[in-house]
Amino acid sequence: MFYYLIRKLLFLIDPEKAHVLTLKFFNLKNFQIIRKMFIKPIPSKKIKCMGLIFKNRIGLAAGLDKNGDYIDSLSTIGFGFIEVGTVTPIPQYGNPKPRIFRIPEAEAIINRMGFNNLGIDYLINNIKKSKFKGIIGVNIGKNKNTKIEDAVKDYLICIEKVYPYASYITINISSPNTIHLRKLQYGALFNDLLDKIKKKQNKMYHKYSKYVPIAIKISPDLSKDELIYICYQLIQYKIDAVIATNTTLDHSSVYGMKNSLEKGGLSGLPLQKKSTDIISILYKNLKKKIPIIGVGGVNSIRSAKEKIQSGAHLIQIYSGLIYHGPKLITKIIKNL
Ligand SMILES: Cc1cc2nc3c(=O)[nH]c(=O)nc-3n(C[C@H](O)[C@H](O)[C@H](O)COP(=O)(O)O)c2cc1C
Repeated sequence: MFYYLIRKLLFLIDPEKAHVLTLKFFNLKNFQIIRKMFIKPIPSKKIKCMGLIFKNRIGLAAGLDKNGDYIDSLSTIGFGFIEVGTVTPIPQYGNPKPRIFRIPEAEAIINRMGFNNLGIDYLINNIKKSKFKGIIGVNIGKNKNTKIEDAVKDYLICIEKVYPYASYITINISSPNTIHLRKLQYGALFNDLLDKIKKKQNKMYHKYSKYVPIAIKISPDLSKDELIYICYQLIQYKIDAVIATNTTLDHSSVYGMKNSLEKGGLSGLPLQKKSTDIISILYKNLKKKIPIIGVGGVNSIRSAKEKIQSGAHLIQIYSGLIYHGPKLITKIIKNL
């Protein structure tokens, strides 16, 4: 109830401003002290995935804390893991504002942020400073000005730098807001990427005597045949996990609603079924060899259970948190 009142006020301001304001408020020391006084640890079952032990199955999806500025405060919500990023080798502004749009009737968001971030070095510094002892995933991408043929270099730079500090690393090749990025999901570009990142992971493993799993984050706009091919390649290259899915370019479910014609990726409730269907296809074709992290439109206990029943080992949430607040996370963790 309290969150829905706050939400009413927040929804009166520009979404990106509301987002920063909420996170900054959350980061206030006094607010954290009060929260800790009232919040009891949530009883949950630990789960092993990618060789790591997760406190529970529910994680924060990439994009909310792009620079790792809020790791400690977000961890108090109860998340079993937090994925920060997407971060790129060099800082970049992203697309011109406004670039986040709400569609409240559909419980959806359209965003075209374009990897606005302060760069990998800034993020690493924040991870070093954080007191959070849980799982931190680092989601990496390419800079806007890096040609798609050279994109692998950007991923390798980020892996090299972040390897000692990340619990796992996500290769984001599915954001719709960086031109040509999704081409990395296909054919020779995909194979070359998988080959080089696996070689890099192996080199880093020997350097640090620490195995950091690598997950690939895919788009919900792939056909069944494309998904089957991706599964085959993920198995061939022994990738550690797949994250399904990023936002969709298919806005047909929100046509006619305010903001539906804005360019960008659609997330939230309209993505729920689409991403769950993709998890089912992945589960069938990965033959239990690679775990799936399910993300897209989780806004209730039921929708979280559906993703798990379709084959997801872990779940991530972004839009559901904006529409329902931190209570949603506690509720799902308690009831899974
Ligand atoms: C404003 C916004 C920014 C996002 N930024 C990123 C990002 O930087 N990297 C990424 O991999 N996904 C990003 N996402 C996608 C989410 O991580 C998630 O995959 C997607 O929103 C579907 O989940 P949801 O329906 O729970 O929001 C972003 C989503 C939103 C709404």
